[in-house]
Amino acid sequence: MEDEITWHKVPVKIDDTRNYVKALHVAGKKLCLIRQDGVLSVTSSRCPHAGADLTKGWCEGEKLICPFHRHRFDIRTGKGNENQGNYIRMYPLKKEDGEYYVGIKKSLWDKIFG
Ligand code: FES
Repeated sequence: MEDEITWHKVPVKIDDTRNYVKALHVAGKKLCLIRQDGVLSVTSSRCPHAGADLTKGWCEGEKLICPFHRHRFDIRTGKGNENQGNYIRMYPLKKEDGEYYVGIKKSLWDKIFG
């Protein structure tokens, strides 16, 4: 069964002209918004290694670097480097009528109580 995705309007203006890694608060979640060399990505903000805040990280090429122990994650797929055996969650982003929307899968909790 396909997981349902809910699209949430991004509450801030997304700057598509320069590179950055920053926090994005949407739908009660803190996500990580990345703009790197023309690629816009939204990922989870918690590092799967030991919980560091990835919004304090930075990019090198197409990798997001965790500020704690320097794990590296692909900003297109969320995959960690091979020797890490981990990944970060990616959230789809779409633009409609000049506004950005982030797609968040409904959690089991939402399905039961939403
Ligand atoms: S907490 Fe991110 S690499 Fe260790």
